[in-house]
Amino acid sequence: MERAMNMKDEEKLYKRDGILYPTIMSPPENLDALKDLEAREDDVMLVAYPKCGCNWMVGVVRKILTACGHTFPEGPPIIEFHSPEVQKLAGQMPPRRFFATHLHPDFIPASFKTNKTKMLVVFRNPKDTLVSYYHFMNSNPVLPKVESWDKFCSDFLSGEVAWGSYFDHALAWEKHMDDPNVLIMAYEELKENLPEGVKKVADFFSFPLTDEQVDAIAGESTFSAMRTSSENSHGKFGNVFFRKGEVGDWKNHFSEAQSKQMDEEFKKKLSGTRLGAKLKY
Ligand code: A3P
Repeated sequence: MERAMNMKDEEKLYKRDGILYPTIMSPPENLDALKDLEAREDDVMLVAYPKCGCNWMVGVVRKILTACGHTFPEGPPIIEFHSPEVQKLAGQMPPRRFFATHLHPDFIPASFKTNKTKMLVVFRNPKDTLVSYYHFMNSNPVLPKVESWDKFCSDFLSGEVAWGSYFDHALAWEKHMDDPNVLIMAYEELKENLPEGVKKVADFFSFPLTDEQVDAIAGESTFSAMRTSSENSHGKFGNVFFRKGEVGDWKNHFSEAQSKQMDEEFKKKLSGTRLGAKLKY
């Protein structure tokens, strides 16, 4: 945190292979170290573009693991947030290891694909994702403050935000919709029916849960429950990760012209795709 205070905004992001990354959270050495992480078939991998509900699903998966008697040390989920040393220790963890990532699928270590590791991929309506991202940029000191809402909207649309273009991520995952080791879920479907979502996640990773366990996990994973316990789960600034937790907050932010621009981009990139349909855009 102190490092962030002493850092100029323009130093808080850096570019690698054409994609921006946060300097403090994911420096180049963290990304380099990923090549040494050898995936296992029984790993639990969660993939989410920023602000699509990653922390929500981390909470759900951790509760599922706990219910099934698994323990997990401090450290992962978001693997690229960890130093090479911690990543090395994480690599030695006993089954079932749990990792998360914001990385574009092209940069996820290849062994996750070759070893058929199951990957849960979470997406969210891009308008709500953008709104959530905008607020996060302004409330997280390790990220640069955004100049204005209008500027952030255009940066998001052109992919000039940390972890790259939402649409590039979505288009890349669209190609994996039928992969047996990939489950793509939408934030909106989780909001619509959380117990069903919890069950789907547990079944996908072959964790046997009773209906009572599913209901209990869903009850502890509502937005209000997770926000209330955010200081325990995420420390002093935990509520930054649990802002509003709603579908459709974009209506309070987008101008008509910005909404139209996003609609056009969505149509151009994702109309007719199954991932697009999942988002009920
Ligand atoms: P908002 O900013 O719209 O509130 P990520 O974890 O990928 O950074 O995503 C953060 C978004 O997920 C935030 O959206 C946050 O409030 C929302 N979120 C976190 N936990 C949630 C929950 N239990 N239910 C619904 N939304 C949740």
